[in-house]
Amino acid sequence: MRIEEVQSAAKKQRIATHTHIKGLGLDANGAAIGLASGFVGQAAAREAAGLVVDMIRQKKMAGRALLLAGPPATGKTALALGISQELGSKVPFCPMVGSEVYSSEVKKTEVLMENFRRAIGLRIKENKEVYEGEVTELSPEEAESTTSGYGKSISHVIIGLKTVKGTKQLKLDPTIYDALIKEKVAVGDVIYIEANSGAVKRVGRCDSFATEYDLEAEEYVPIPKGEVHKKKEIVQDVTLHDLDAANAQPQGGQDILSLMGQMMKPRKTEITDKLRQEINKVVNRYIDEGIAELVPGVLFIDEVHMLDIECFSYLNRALESPLSPIVILATNRGICNVRGTDMTSPHGIPVDLLDRLVIIRTETYGPTEMIQLLSPASVVAKANGREKISKADLEEVSGLYLDAKSSARLLQEQQERYIT
Ligand SMILES: Nc1ncnc2c1ncn2[C@@H]1O[C@H](COP(=O)(O)OP(=O)(O)OP(=O)(O)O)[C@@H](O)[C@H]1O
Ligand SMILES: [Mg+2]
Repeated sequence: MRIEEVQSAAKKQRIATHTHIKGLGLDANGAAIGLASGFVGQAAAREAAGLVVDMIRQKKMAGRALLLAGPPATGKTALALGISQELGSKVPFCPMVGSEVYSSEVKKTEVLMENFRRAIGLRIKENKEVYEGEVTELSPEEAESTTSGYGKSISHVIIGLKTVKGTKQLKLDPTIYDALIKEKVAVGDVIYIEANSGAVKRVGRCDSFATEYDLEAEEYVPIPKGEVHKKKEIVQDVTLHDLDAANAQPQGGQDILSLMGQMMKPRKTEITDKLRQEINKVVNRYIDEGIAELVPGVLFIDEVHMLDIECFSYLNRALESPLSPIVILATNRGICNVRGTDMTSPHGIPVDLLDRLVIIRTETYGPTEMIQLLSPASVVAKANGREKISKADLEEVSGLYLDAKSSARLLQEQQERYIT
């Protein structure tokens, strides 16, 4: 199994409207602070979410599921993102929306499976032989190309590495030069090169350069202690999906296409069930041997009422598997139809799944509309030359926009004027 250089394949999150949420805003005892981490009010739900975070940290939540239920715009999605912020970047958090499973190309359960595996982390610790230090020299040596007939190619690279204790000059294979370029290594960076695989990792910029450019988003690290050549414990956080993707093999088969595939460079293709099973086997062995530790993360399925019965039974099964994340569901539906059936059920979720859920309710805000209208109101306030939003600003925008209830009321009042 390949675990070196596994690129994380984390999904882009849809969080544009939630950038003010920085956590759950709880104090040391887990009580909600009035206005903190971007949250205001919704104290009970935030405290309940805080308990869930604690349970996840103590690994007591794996294989369980949580449902955030409440009217639209009461902060369900915001709560889920708050949970993810509290968990930190080492615990995988995979957000998806129920309707994502309806793709014309991929099976519904396949979409779910992939997201499940994005939400299960593995922390791999290995002792590896490495060369580590601050780069003092980086010079590729050119040679006449022997393969292409013209031009030049790199024959080897000379690299100088410095630590507190010593310096070393290494002569490296051209393939490592490619890796150095990919990691954008420059003189003054701290890097390590794995002796066996030749994998290169840029740790950061050496802190003696810290005042070099002020604006750069750069991580400064101290010059490494010890010798350049040494054993080092390397910790990697990956998800099962990262491993699937890194190990996906070219497809086999006898058809012409696959023959072409063999002649071309091996190309990464699909992740199959078989591959996943093999990965699980290796992962389980690593866990038994103490090389790896399972880090169950969070799979967040927003608008869960969009899933159908097939997906729900898959969810039920997946939650029972030993490799399972914590599943957080959110919905704003009350009693409604379970997709793909003629049953109705609370939240559109079949009862057998409902029975497994812990439910957190989000309550309607006093003036619900306020949250929705705060950003337009702040624009109005600024236009009126004020920094803070006043009651007048809110009244002005609430005249401009309708919330769902008033819109429904208006629709009813003016029914006869609409085309039916
Ligand atoms: N308690 C809160 N404090 C601060 N901001 C909040 C709070 N609740 C919601 N928001 C913000 O209000 C907006 C709407 O909330 P959100 O999208 O989380 O609602 P929702 O319950 O997921 O709604 P829906 O059912 O429509 O999906 C978001 O920008 C969110 O960040
Ligand atoms: Mg939402």
